[in-house]
Amino acid sequence: MRDLLPTEVTVAVAGPDDWAGELLPAEQACLGEKAVESRRRDFTAGRICARRALTRLGVPAVAVPSAPDRSPVWPAGVVGTITHTRGYCAAAAARTDQVRSVGMDAEGHRELNAGVRRLIGLPEEWDDCARLPGGVSWAAVLFSAKETIYKVWHPVVGTWLDFHDARVELDPDSGLFTARINPTRLAGAPVPDPPATVTGRFAVDADLVRTAAVLLPR
Ligand SMILES: CC(C)(COP(=O)(O)OP(=O)(O)OC[C@H]1O[C@@H](n2cnc3c(N)ncnc32)[C@H](O)[C@@H]1OP(=O)(O)O)[C@@H](O)C(=O)NCCC(=O)NCCS
Repeated sequence: MRDLLPTEVTVAVAGPDDWAGELLPAEQACLGEKAVESRRRDFTAGRICARRALTRLGVPAVAVPSAPDRSPVWPAGVVGTITHTRGYCAAAAARTDQVRSVGMDAEGHRELNAGVRRLIGLPEEWDDCARLPGGVSWAAVLFSAKETIYKVWHPVVGTWLDFHDARVELDPDSGLFTARINPTRLAGAPVPDPPATVTGRFAVDADLVRTAAVLLPR
């Protein structure tokens, strides 16, 4: 993810030992005792990476618990993001005076079935994808970009964002994606001036699709 984010953001990617690392008590309390092994490993790798990203930022590596809505709770003055998928995990952190929000997502590089495609993409996005070069599951890239957009959006605005609320354009030459956001539900949320666009980066290899984005302070 280092290649996808600006230098103000610190990044840590899990190594082989991190999946079986130690949680801090506040993190363990969020995971609970009944978590299945795969969830325990994902959650643990995420927290080990989160604390490593904090250290690289020069702030104490405190616990990063989960809020009731499952979003990670970063220490005051810090924003961050966590992703994990099948053997890959990364976390990123930045200071709030430099970055307003950061999000990233990793997904397996695979085709998506018609039902999932309908759920996540707008017809015009599928028209765009059909015109992009072959050899890449653009559906997986679109899906990952939208999950990154949600991770950037939710900590700032505090509301749900439907997959169809963002119109994403992918540029394979630059590796940039741009999203115009038109939220259908801002129900009762104190949302002064929610972001109307999100720009991020994507990268694709044989196994993995990665996306990341930041919002800068206004
Ligand atoms: C929250 C969500 C984006 C997570 O994505 P995912 O591909 O399922 O899983 P990832 O491994 O990449 O990310 C999981 C991490 O996201 C973080 N996360 C969860 N909820 C979050 C939120 N509301 N805001 C920011 N980060 C969140 C957590 O750190 C979580 O890991 P943890 O539970 O171990 O702490 C996804 O589950 C979801 O709810 N999507 C629907 C909303 C959406 O994407 N809309 C599209 C708008 S265009």
